[in-house]
Amino acid sequence: MNKNVGVRFIGHSTFLIKSPGGKTILIDPWVKDNPICPDQAKEIENLDLILITHGHGDHMPEAVALAEEFNPSIICNFEISQWLQGKGVNCPVIGMNKGGTAEVEGIRVTMVDAKHSSSITEPDGTTIYAGEPAGYVIGFENDYRIYHAGDTCIFGDMKLIGELYKPDLAMLPIGDHFTMGPLEASMACRFLNVDKVVPMHYGTFPILTGNPERLRELLDGEGIEVIELEPGQEVFMG
Ligand code: NI
Ligand code: MN
Repeated sequence: MNKNVGVRFIGHSTFLIKSPGGKTILIDPWVKDNPICPDQAKEIENLDLILITHGHGDHMPEAVALAEEFNPSIICNFEISQWLQGKGVNCPVIGMNKGGTAEVEGIRVTMVDAKHSSSITEPDGTTIYAGEPAGYVIGFENDYRIYHAGDTCIFGDMKLIGELYKPDLAMLPIGDHFTMGPLEASMACRFLNVDKVVPMHYGTFPILTGNPERLRELLDGEGIEVIELEPGQEVFMG
């Protein structure tokens, strides 16, 4: 077993993760059309699991296509699972809800709260309710734990997520406007009691103005490392 967790930042909120046991996990399927991901980092060889945080066009636009191409398991909320099955997706779709944990091929995935909205806009312009948005705590084979917050504001129960699941690393949105900005994310790091944070959901569009430098300033001297990943960059954690 490879000891490390490989984390490749595709861009925005999308990450391709290689587990210590060799499983490939994609969080928020937006790869091929992701505007900030370099082409060479868009190569996916195989996928064992897709996690979907919520139903917006910058988070799950390629869920159906990737399900058809790779036949992974998909974890999402119940409403999105129904929608995917309605689109003819044949792979195992695990519709769950917050507070629950699903184990897929040795990877433990807990769905936790997020405060945001969640909908799917069909090609004809109809907007469909897509259940509540979520975050995930992912526990790998070596017990390394990553919390991906999804799109969210800060909320007090991040303290509970920290106490209960003790994540080693947090992936937090910092872009502002649709989610937390750096100020809220700095407090979220303290609530979560993490010593490593990967900022996400910033810079993709001009309106997402929050930036990692500001988060770093706000956390100065607190022993919390801000790991700023370039789109396409891969790091090994744990
Ligand atoms: Ni969103
Ligand atoms: Mn978003």
